Amino acid sequence: MTAENATASAPAEASAAESLASTAGRIADHRRKYQEAVGDRDAAAAAKQHPRGKLTARERISELLDPGSFVEFDKYVKHRTHGFGMEHNRPFGDSVVTGAGTIHGRQVVVFSQDFTTFGGSLGEVAGEKIVKAMEFALKTGAPLLGILDSGGARIQEGVVALSNYAKIFRLNTMCSGVIPQISIVMGPSAGGAVYSPALTDFVIMVDKTSHMFVTGPDVIKTVTGEEVGFEELGGALTHNQTSGVSHYLASDEHDALDYARALISYLPDNNLAELPVYDSDTALEITDADRRLNSLIPDSPNQPYDMKVVIEGILDSGEFLEVQPLFAPNMLIGFGRVEGRTVGIVANQPNQMAGTLNIDASEKAARFVRFCDSFSIPILTLVDVPGYLPGTDQEFQGVIRRGAKLLYAYAEATVPLVTIITRKAYGGAYIVMGSKQMGADFNIAWPTAEIAVMGGAGAVNILYRKELAAAEAEGRDVEALRAELTAKYSADVTSPFLAAERGELDNVLEPAGTRLAVIKSLRGLRGKRTEQPAKKHGNIPL
Ligand code: HXC
Repeated sequence: MTAENATASAPAEASAAESLASTAGRIADHRRKYQEAVGDRDAAAAAKQHPRGKLTARERISELLDPGSFVEFDKYVKHRTHGFGMEHNRPFGDSVVTGAGTIHGRQVVVFSQDFTTFGGSLGEVAGEKIVKAMEFALKTGAPLLGILDSGGARIQEGVVALSNYAKIFRLNTMCSGVIPQISIVMGPSAGGAVYSPALTDFVIMVDKTSHMFVTGPDVIKTVTGEEVGFEELGGALTHNQTSGVSHYLASDEHDALDYARALISYLPDNNLAELPVYDSDTALEITDADRRLNSLIPDSPNQPYDMKVVIEGILDSGEFLEVQPLFAPNMLIGFGRVEGRTVGIVANQPNQMAGTLNIDASEKAARFVRFCDSFSIPILTLVDVPGYLPGTDQEFQGVIRRGAKLLYAYAEATVPLVTIITRKAYGGAYIVMGSKQMGADFNIAWPTAEIAVMGGAGAVNILYRKELAAAEAEGRDVEALRAELTAKYSADVTSPFLAAERGELDNVLEPAGTRLAVIKSLRGLRGKRTEQPAKKHGNIPL
């Protein structure tokens, strides 16, 4: 923490000059109050948090920000609540620490809830502090990071606590698309309070110590009779793997704070700011590593491979910061750099559910595309998709409505869009994954690409049903005929050169040339300017 006076952490010395009538006395009084507000509070908090494997609100801020950069807001505010004995317990700063500082030298605004003070609950004053910090972030165009560890609305207070949540939700929404917002959940986040993190761009949760739920286990048991524990209901694993609420499962608090710092390194300060640019020693000729991509795609179209190999082969130093890795793993999203500049990656993962698109994958990618578009981050799309996942489960859950989000996201994106088709690109899934007519700027395919309404085997079953039935009736080798027809269909219809012939692809190139092609495409698109028709806002299917 930034010390604001010479002996901030040392006990104030008693002296004759301590009278408030003298300057020395006032300085001594200030030291005492500073010590009480910062040093004593944090020591008491550490005694409660450390045995639970948790850091204090201030320790978390210290670890998140560049050393010595924190400037605290409202350190001396006190709540004004009466009743329940609250008037006798008015700690400095109330239940949240707020302020500004830097990460990688760039300004951010942070609030960090202190569970050791009234359970980190949000009453009138704590709410005002968070609102003030958010307004500061908005007016200065700085990313907002919230560290949550709270029992929710302060039970001793009434509607003011709720009203401050409403202000926070509204500000979260105002900030959306203007400044990046990251929530780091490091304890409970319960009830309506969960909707603040839900409105932010990225939610990081810590394994075993963070929990999010709208209604807790006790209420669930009372209302529905269902028995479920905290961890299963709202633990970090549940929200990373099952609900998709969280974007990163941190192994501990240090890991969570590291991930937040890494995320910030890829993001601009706000929607009008330039992307951060890092030094890079990108090779500008085809390397041996590039050539290894030529042997990545298996000869059999049914054999999977790892799309991360392609992603890492394209990005600077092979560094890919994956987002939401545990949710819908058939779709990969995340950040990397090309020539030191941030790109967002959206990619099918053929080694998970054969890379099919389903509701979860569509929503995961759609939200990411919209985030990148809000903050002018170019998007690189890697395609190997056999189609949408068939089944009543998907249809009944609304794959039409929810899958449409990804179409909407790509169609409204104005950032540079570069698409590489590595293998399958079939049907509606071809269209949605950054195809030319969805607005992509550069569409490139490998010679192994297959672009068609459907795969060869499915197409032959429909187009040659009668011929196959006749062959079977005549006792001919049906499988040999099927294989022959499939090979012919693939050669005649799915070849990437047919798409290139029509300008749906800008190029067909060897995998080894991909990294350089991406570099040149993104260079060429740096000046891209396009606008959508003026409107209040669109109506994305929700
Ligand atoms: C005031 C609270 C509090 C709250 C916890 N505390 N939550 N004080 N308002 N909302 C206090 C406790 O009284 C206790 O004080 C201290 O914080 C630590 O709490 P414990 O219960 O001892 O801790 P733990 O066992 O770890 O349990 C944590 C907890 C539990 C699961 C969060 O405290 C809990 O269930 N709290 C209530 C959660 C809740 O229902 N909140 C309202 C949600 S509705 P002492 O003095 O004993 O240390 C909501 C509306 C938002 O938030 C509106 C948005 C639309």
